Amino acid sequence: MSSKLIAPSMLAADFGNLQRDIEMVNNSDADWFHIDVMDGHFVPNISYGMPVIQAIKKHATKPLDVHLMIEKPERYIEEFAKIGADIITVHYESTVHLHRTLRQIKATGCKAGVVLNLTTPVSVLEDILPECFMVLLMSINPGFGGQKFEDITYKRIKKLREMINEQGLDTRIEIDGGVTNKNIKKLVDAGADVFVAGSHVFKSSNQQETIKELKLVANS
Ligand code: DX5
Ligand code: ZN
Repeated sequence: MSSKLIAPSMLAADFGNLQRDIEMVNNSDADWFHIDVMDGHFVPNISYGMPVIQAIKKHATKPLDVHLMIEKPERYIEEFAKIGADIITVHYESTVHLHRTLRQIKATGCKAGVVLNLTTPVSVLEDILPECFMVLLMSINPGFGGQKFEDITYKRIKKLREMINEQGLDTRIEIDGGVTNKNIKKLVDAGADVFVAGSHVFKSSNQQETIKELKLVANS
């Protein structure tokens, strides 16, 4: 079994102490920085853009996993790559020419992934899976941190894992929204590999211990 990865979501960081929180992640058992970009159109919230991501990149010693919750993400792929994205995921629901957009991401040297909203059927991924380094399944409605995990996610992971296995691929499955030390093991057992955690990590009193625990439970 390959190692399960933890990606703290910087949406839940303290922006007044951004460098401190970046160093916390650098010095923790976390694997990636999860970076949520929201445009106020695709989702009903605006998060942060290029200057903040550049500031994170300047100090981060781990890969940036950039989750684009924006309409027509193809307009900004090169720019996100230029400022330091390592993995770029785009929503299936946000771009008409998904295949072209994934190829565009890969042409920049970044790893490419597709994100599905909570109830977009996983079956829509069948023909695009060979292009995906990773598939991100939302386990909440995207737009805000701190929401409750939706149980429908378990059966979606199982279905997607079967599709990946049937095609003989090694595509990773990432889960985003409401991940905690209570549900992470069940998510691993369903077939997921990468776990975004925002409020569970940043609202805890010992953030590095919380990350360590998530990583331990996921890999137990
Ligand atoms: C929400 C974002 C998530 C969010 C997760 O649209 O995609 O990455 O930060 O936050 P928690 O872990 O608090 O649900
Ligand atoms: Zn996210």
